[in-house]
Formats: sequence, structure tokens, C-alpha cells
Amino acid sequence: MSNHRPNYAPGRYAHIVGWGMEAPTRTLTNDDLAQMVDTSDEWIRERTGISERRIADAGDSPITLGLRAARKALASADMLPDELDLIVVATSSPVYLFPATACVIQDKLGAGHAGAFDVMAACTGFIYALGIAAAQIKIGAIDTALVIGTETLSRIVDWSDRGTCILFGDGAGAFILRESDAPGGVLEVVMHSDGSGGNLLYAPSGIRSQWDAPEAIPVNARMNGAEVFRFATHVMASATREVVERAGLRLEDIDWVVPHQANLRIIQSAMGRLKLPEERVVINISRYGNTSTASIPMAVVEAVESGQIGPDNRLVLVGFGGGLTWGAAIIEWEVTPKRPAPVRELMREAGYILAAIRSFLRRLWRFLEALILRER
Ligand code: UT7
Repeated sequence: MSNHRPNYAPGRYAHIVGWGMEAPTRTLTNDDLAQMVDTSDEWIRERTGISERRIADAGDSPITLGLRAARKALASADMLPDELDLIVVATSSPVYLFPATACVIQDKLGAGHAGAFDVMAACTGFIYALGIAAAQIKIGAIDTALVIGTETLSRIVDWSDRGTCILFGDGAGAFILRESDAPGGVLEVVMHSDGSGGNLLYAPSGIRSQWDAPEAIPVNARMNGAEVFRFATHVMASATREVVERAGLRLEDIDWVVPHQANLRIIQSAMGRLKLPEERVVINISRYGNTSTASIPMAVVEAVESGQIGPDNRLVLVGFGGGLTWGAAIIEWEVTPKRPAPVRELMREAGYILAAIRSFLRRLWRFLEALILRER
């Protein structure tokens, strides 16, 4: 770990003031999977802790799921899209290499003042995105940010590979971050990588790897499960320890650990290394499987909405993924959910309709401008 400490502006903190999640309604159970590949409900539950996962509708994508999670997060923060300075989206299953998923969501929200870009750090992407957004706020570059983790992994899963297809699911989660002078919020974030393990967990982009390669490699997720398992248990424990130490705290000071929901056995083994009892760990893997960048925010949102996580709680979010990447964030959760003012609720809804009209008019204007300029 480097000794470099960021130069944050004094008295500036990045608080999480809004949150939202989107889970597709369609459920794929282990028994459904047993009709597709040689597996069983018993095997999947014993080896992974997963009972079912959600599968996006035909018309859905990381854009639509992320957009719906973002709208819920804005409503819970009672903010208007116009107030956003930055949108960072983490996704491992983007529809486009570019434009960034964040840009498409920026347009659909009508977040006219926000910069927008994507982060690709596989399942650790949400931690990375949160770290970047919080640091931007703490150095005083921006005041607000929307951070989204969103996936339709069902589109990159090889449904004939029983070693991977049983694990993954679709969903999205979003946080709104806002500057405050009250101590708390995102206290510390650690990010790590080891590219030498890139071959253990990867998905080709669909682009030919060489100029004269006969064809592109299919866009399926590939994995060495046993190796990833070993790596994961180790780094989930080490990153948790590291981020807690960085914040000048001890593990006993942590109320909740929210780990990346990849495999229940990985979570149990990592928490066992830390001697953290399961009662202090947020786990929802049985219902959603591994939703990559969405898994941590979805678990946080569910735990906040069920009253598990409450004001004054200290949380560690910890994840790992392809890259290899891993990281953790420590957060003081101090905000009670706001009751959105009905007028602002109306303004937000009207704003989304206006955003669609504005986007259409901008495209039309670009088209007309090109016509006029060509004629000259
Ligand atoms: O976001 C990060 C993404 N990735 C992960 O977190 C994955 C981490 N790894 C894992 O979760 C586990 O390694 C798996 C769940 C993927 C596999 O569990 P495992 O306990 O490590 O099983 P294994 O790969 O050692 O395989 C044991 C046996 C093998 O059969 P043989 O060779 O012993 O006869 C596999 O062929 O289980 C077999 N197997 C299955 N059997 C029934 C593998 N997948 C399945 C399956 N159903 N779906």
C-alpha cells in the first residue's frame, strides 16, 4: 500500500444522500437451470448459496435498469437531475463500448450539467466508481454525483456452461453523493489490481484481437472458478482490514460489512478470516446471484430499506472481480431517508419528459444544421 494520502479540502465530506435499486421481475430458479444444463438445485445452493436470480426483460439493458435505479435514488435524495455534477456508471455488460452507459443515462435523466463516464473494473467497479466520485467531492471539484452499478449479465453468460451460468443475474443499484461540512459519509476507499490474473476471469469485447484474426472471440464470461475463489477469500479479508485501518478504526467499530455477492462460501470464508459474525454481514445472494457491479449497491439499498442499516451505522463495502481487481470503502451512514416533496416529485417527472423532448430536439437540430451547412 502506498503511503500517499490525498489532499482533501478541509471540512468537505461526501455523504450518501440517496439510493435506489432495480431488480427485473423475471426470476430464473435453480430448478429452471437444471432443465438447461446438467446441474441441480441442491448443488447450486450448497456450493454457492444461490436459489434464484433475476433476468432482464427483452427490452431492458444496463441503460434502462440503471436509469430506473437512478430515478429512485434521485427521488430518495429529493434532488433534481439538473443538480448533478457527475455521473459515473460501473458496468461489466455495456451495450456500447461508446458512448458510455453514463452518457446515455445522463441524456435520459436530463442531467444537463453533469459530466458522465463509465468505469470498467468488473465486479469491483462500483467501489472504484464510488471512490472516484467521493474524491472529486472531497477535493472540491464537484458538489454532487450519481454513482450506478448496472448489469444485464444474462446477455454475456454462456448458457451451456454450467460452471458460470448458475452464478450470474441482472440488476442495478445507485447512490447519490452530496458534499457536506458534517463529518462522515465515504471516509476511505482502497482500490487494487493484479493484471497477471486477468486470464482467470474475463469476457472478450467481441472485437477481433488482431488485424488478421479470422473472427472475433464470442462475448461470453469465462472463469477459473477455483482460482477466483481462492483469490477472493484472501482479498476480501485483506481489503476490509486495510480500509478500516486507513480510517483509524478497528473491526469492532464496524456495524455492517456489505460484501460483493459472488458466492456465499466466499463471503463466509472471508468473514471467518476476519472473525466477523454473520449477523454483521449483509447477504442477499440467494435471491439475486452475482450481479457484478450492481451487487453491493443492491445489497445496501435492501438493507437500508428493511431497516437493517440505519443512521450512524459504519459500513464496509468490499468487492473483487476480473482484472483482477479488488477494493473496499468505509462509510458512515448518517442519513435518514427523506420524504420527497410532492412538488419536486412532479418537477422530476415533468423533467424526465422534457429530457426526452430536449434530446429529440437536439438530434433534430444537429440534423438540420448539417443539412444547412452542407448546402453552403
Ligand atoms: O464476481 C466474481 C465471479 N466469480 C466467482 O466469484 C466465482 C468463484 N468460484 C466459485 O464460486 C466456485 O468455484 C464455483 C461455484 C464456480 C464452483 O464451485 P466449486 O466448489 O469450486 O466446484 P469445482 O469447480 O471444484 O467443481 C467440482 C465439481 C466438478 O466435477 P468433478 O470434476 O469433481 O467431477 C465440476 O464439473 O462440480 C462440477 N460442477 C457442477 N456440478 C453440478 C461444476 N459446476 C457444476 C454445476 N452443477 N453447476
